[in-house]
Amino acid sequence: MQKILIAAAVAAAGGFATGAGEIYRDASQPVERRVEDLLGRMTLDEKIGQLYQSIAEPDWRPMEGQFDAVRKGEIGSFINLYREKGVDRVDWRGTVSRRCHDTLQKIAVEQSRLGIPLIFGHDVIHGCYTIFPSPLTLACAFEPDLFETAQHFAAREARWAGYDWTFAPMCDTARDPRWGRVMETCGEDPYLNALCVAAQVRGFQGADASAADRIPACMKHFVGYSDSMGGRDYNITECSEWTLRNLHLIPFRAAAAAGVETVMSSFNTVDGRPAVTSRHTLTDILRGEWGFSGFVVSDWNAVHEAIEWGYAKDGAEAARMALRAGNDMEMFSRHYPDNLKGEIAAGRMEIGVLDEAVRRILRVKFRTGLFERPYAIELPGDEALKAFDACAHEAAKNCAAKSIVLVKNNGVLPLKAKKIALIGPLGDDRREMIGAWDARSEACRTTLFDELKAAFADGEVIMAKGCAVNTVASVQTKEDGGKAESAATSTAGIDKESVDRALALAEVVVLALGEDRNWTGENHSRSRLTLTGAQQDLFDYVADSGKPIVAIVCSGRPLALPSVWERADAVFYAGQPGCEGAAALAALISGKLSPEGRLSMSVPRDVGHLPVFYNSYRTGRPGSGRYDDAFEQDAKYPFGYGLTYTTFAFSPTRIDGRTAKCEVTNTGAREGVAVAQLYVGAAACPDGVRPRRELRGLRKLSLRPGQTAQVAFELDDAVLAYTDRSGALKTACGRYEAVIAPDSASGSGASFVRE
Ligand code: NOJ
Repeated sequence: MQKILIAAAVAAAGGFATGAGEIYRDASQPVERRVEDLLGRMTLDEKIGQLYQSIAEPDWRPMEGQFDAVRKGEIGSFINLYREKGVDRVDWRGTVSRRCHDTLQKIAVEQSRLGIPLIFGHDVIHGCYTIFPSPLTLACAFEPDLFETAQHFAAREARWAGYDWTFAPMCDTARDPRWGRVMETCGEDPYLNALCVAAQVRGFQGADASAADRIPACMKHFVGYSDSMGGRDYNITECSEWTLRNLHLIPFRAAAAAGVETVMSSFNTVDGRPAVTSRHTLTDILRGEWGFSGFVVSDWNAVHEAIEWGYAKDGAEAARMALRAGNDMEMFSRHYPDNLKGEIAAGRMEIGVLDEAVRRILRVKFRTGLFERPYAIELPGDEALKAFDACAHEAAKNCAAKSIVLVKNNGVLPLKAKKIALIGPLGDDRREMIGAWDARSEACRTTLFDELKAAFADGEVIMAKGCAVNTVASVQTKEDGGKAESAATSTAGIDKESVDRALALAEVVVLALGEDRNWTGENHSRSRLTLTGAQQDLFDYVADSGKPIVAIVCSGRPLALPSVWERADAVFYAGQPGCEGAAALAALISGKLSPEGRLSMSVPRDVGHLPVFYNSYRTGRPGSGRYDDAFEQDAKYPFGYGLTYTTFAFSPTRIDGRTAKCEVTNTGAREGVAVAQLYVGAAACPDGVRPRRELRGLRKLSLRPGQTAQVAFELDDAVLAYTDRSGALKTACGRYEAVIAPDSASGSGASFVRE
């Protein structure tokens, strides 16, 4: 009876009806039985088809030949349907891509021999339609659960757009801001990063990734990609086993423990081998040590790049190396479909290895409910959609408001002045704050200009753009390898007349500046951490006027802006705050909301100081090894730093048995949020040197003026743990120091011993 009901429900949802003896079509059977039954029925061609992820061409739409390949079972997955071409932008909530998804899926399900559904992947990184703050920005909220909320909204919207799978969360730990992809990371600290990525997995997948409002997640890029040399994208990574295990692998292990269904192997090398061919990471660690049972997809063209690296001699060898290493699905390049059949026939490739890869892909397809519900999710009715939309935007605004970091305030904020000049290219712009990796985003519905006018309705806000976010010339230089960039970024290009007009009327200036969002994200490394285009000239011009300045810096990476830090009266580091960033900024500027963000990545004083992450190591010569030509060598604003509209006092840290304790008092005149951060450092570790300080606990405290909170962190094994080179978790290092501090550079540690 149960079986009949399930079959009827499945048929009604557009999936299979159970055929006689076809265990794999029977949803009541255990997943492993279904996998084995289906695998046993597949031809070699069909198996290889499951290992191949294709793009839809041309213009991200499928074409005739691809319909045929799907019919023959030669494609297992598609990426980025209708990614970015015109029509989808105006096609609210994905009607077109849903149709496209379902057209292909119908062929796979109804016309292919075994009816194995395709899985459709897309880069839904920080929202699908409703864009939340970038991961680097949202991590600044120091409230990992916000990621769960954000990615649940993203999962629902992705389903409506016809995507069954997202390529997120990115679990790489930021090291070098020259690397354009730091905006996709959750910052430079592996502990915070781990909490944030685990929350993302929960947000995307929920308790059951097969639910209609969830999608399977994909942790990426496995592993070491963020350590690419000199911050140059796609470059070699030189990373010891010790650093791999105690830094880069930590967030991945957390995402795996949270049940992530899939993994993407990375572009970089690991110990001299392209990561897509690294058996050590993809099999020994991922499956052997962590028990991961889902599948691994390569990054775009990465199987082919094993040849470009000068590692594999041809496509057949690249395919053999990657598959044997544990890379199950090939994205974009065609070395699996073009070579594996011949390699097996020639006895150069083991069928058992190939079967295992197919098994893993089918397992995820079964586990995530694709066989039962292969088609895109229908949109709810108009009213429900409107209600959803309002909630999504409210959540995005809340996330942005909690993420924006106030790094300087000489008292000008919150603004009391009534005559405000809003100057700068981001003041009346609808796309820049959305940032890179914008999935199917719509433009922001309001600009900072709109929001400030509403927030200061009894005053006057005058807008002057001043200059473009980037000069036309500097955008063009990207196409010629950036050769003319230095000339372009010094181009004056300021509209002084309109700036003067605004300045003449204003008591205070809000200067909305930033980094061209198109210079952030993949393949956007930078050699200088400056404002783009003529914005520095604009800043200097406005600063010379002597008017008080509230600077807003939107960027995908920390920028080194000494004159902004010095000459502005207040500075918000807003990152890429998403589609409600303007509303959040206006609420913070007017004082309706109080800032509570803390930096997820240290801000350098100068590009020559890189790297400046806080979790650096001691040296054998404390105090030596400094740059002769720089007085201050630390970060300008360290990890964990951020101001509020009140002040907090942290008492010295005490160690009480196995607990670290302190008191935090609101010493200001306004309610505010303190972030108590526990940092631990091992003074002597027999397995290898450890960072001076590592974040191992955080607590957000909302305190009224004069209120004191007791803060206590258990110094248990999880807090003290490190991983030795064999993957074993260890704790006993002898002497440790712990400090509960407002940021990574403050406070002095209290000692304790753990043998
Ligand atoms: C390359 C990027 O490295 C990866 O993050 C992304 O998911 C794929 N392209 C697919 O777009």
